[in-house]
Amino acid sequence: SGPGDLAGRRVVVSAGGTREPIDPVRFIGNRSSGRQGYALAVTALARGAEVVLVSANTALPDPAGAAVRRVGSTAELRDAMHEESGAADAVVMAAAVADFRPATTTPGKIKKTGGAPAPIALVENPDILLELTRGRAHDGQVVVGFAAETDHVVENGRAKLARKGCDLLVVNQVGDGLAFGTADNQAVVLGADGSSTDIPTGPKEDLADRVWDLVAERLS
Ligand code: C5P
Repeated sequence: SGPGDLAGRRVVVSAGGTREPIDPVRFIGNRSSGRQGYALAVTALARGAEVVLVSANTALPDPAGAAVRRVGSTAELRDAMHEESGAADAVVMAAAVADFRPATTTPGKIKKTGGAPAPIALVENPDILLELTRGRAHDGQVVVGFAAETDHVVENGRAKLARKGCDLLVVNQVGDGLAFGTADNQAVVLGADGSSTDIPTGPKEDLADRVWDLVAERLS
């Protein structure tokens, strides 16, 4: 692990949270800051990787040296991931993707009518991570997912890893001020090979470096 071990490797990282338009001014979103994804990009750059960062609605400055693609909705994130993942040695889905989106985007701003508000019908979004593992661009491409769990972290994580078909699943323990929007993160990284790596509470950069250690092992 460490400086240079990702030299010549191309990695694609998604970060932030998607926004699903309701009308021209409103959206369904989430509280993801993008900091974990950016930490992954910055640490991969420091280890010599060529980095594409697909950034959904973050307020963070572009990391020097990364190719940054800014996206808004899940549909845009999905297109960018499919375009960029083909040539990637590793793909990390750190973005918080909306599970549902409004079935239609109202072309004009929705107005009060005095009566009961119209319900917003939702449809399920495609699971981008699942699409990426099913359509793996080449043998040996390492695909990493993220999950946030409040309870039975390892048990739920194992089931999700199997369902998503990824090589590594970074399972965040959420609640108690951890994860979303905070500087620190605590996680267990589960491997499709049955491995389990505990990562103590610490900066998101440290977690990112541990994830790249595990990715690098699987690339070589
Ligand atoms: O199923 P869940 O949302 O917990 O899975 C989280 C993981 O799946 C994250 O890596 C996230 O980026 C990815 N995901 C996705 N497309 C979705 C939902 C989640 O790629 N529609």
